[in-house]
Amino acid sequence: MNHGYSYQQTLTASAAINWRIEDIIGGSRRLNFDMAFMPESLARVNELTFLTEDEQRILNQIRGNTYLCIFGLVEEFILPFVMDHARQHLQGDDFRARALLQFASEEAKHIQLFKRFRQEFEAGFGTACAVIGPPEEIAKAILAHDPLGVALTTLHIEWMVQRHYVDSIKDDQALDPQFKSLLKHHWLEEVQHAKLDTLMVEALAAGRGEEEVMKGVQEYLEIGGFIDGGLKQQVEFDLDAFERATARLLADSEKEQFRRLQLQANRWTYLGTGMTHEKVLETLESLTPKARQLVESISPAFG
Ligand SMILES: [Fe+2]
Ligand SMILES: [Fe+2]
Repeated sequence: MNHGYSYQQTLTASAAINWRIEDIIGGSRRLNFDMAFMPESLARVNELTFLTEDEQRILNQIRGNTYLCIFGLVEEFILPFVMDHARQHLQGDDFRARALLQFASEEAKHIQLFKRFRQEFEAGFGTACAVIGPPEEIAKAILAHDPLGVALTTLHIEWMVQRHYVDSIKDDQALDPQFKSLLKHHWLEEVQHAKLDTLMVEALAAGRGEEEVMKGVQEYLEIGGFIDGGLKQQVEFDLDAFERATARLLADSEKEQFRRLQLQANRWTYLGTGMTHEKVLETLESLTPKARQLVESISPAFG
């Protein structure tokens, strides 16, 4: 595939960007709970017209907390996956070994950043918000799949982060600057990860025939189905947190709308934006045009 990504280039870029957790969270860097955390294209809280503006903002912040927690969670499977991949490729290319280890190290840092963020959020928001898990169980379930399927899931997640930031967050002046800064710093390192994921997918697909490649693609879709099940549960958690945070009990018809619209918002946020990402589709197509066709036939459900 003619993408031009290399281990040496990502390593050089990563060294120039590398930030420390203590430089981006803590001290005077506080969340402003008077502002929204998530762009409306992902949160879709304005569609819930029976909520007041304040209630929409509170739901938006719950979704923001969930967003960073879910990234913390998925990174718990990405970390061991990259470590295992790196372990098998320590010899032969020093840049590859170093780039993959740097990738793993950054994900370990992101996991810690998001835990740190969660503490700040809970202290300032005042209501505990549940998030699907536990992370080690989710990681175990995902890692039980074909490595090519896991690598495609990782590729999907990391391109998705970039799409969210570049298309919806970067130029949104209504968002809390501190929350935006967290997303920006995360994105800066994810840029390299998505390129490394592309190289990992290629390494794992090398030598496979079309049928074997399609088995990996099928498992990528199975992991997507598993995540979708988690999102259904997450919407219930968010509904519960919303009612506790606002002390407003929704009527049954309002709950039904909340569940339906927020599930679709979550599907777009975590599944649709990755499955329809042009770079993900290009990589699938480079494996076999059938892979792209299959994913494109399913992705409209996550719009
Ligand atoms: Fe990350
Ligand atoms: Fe990453």
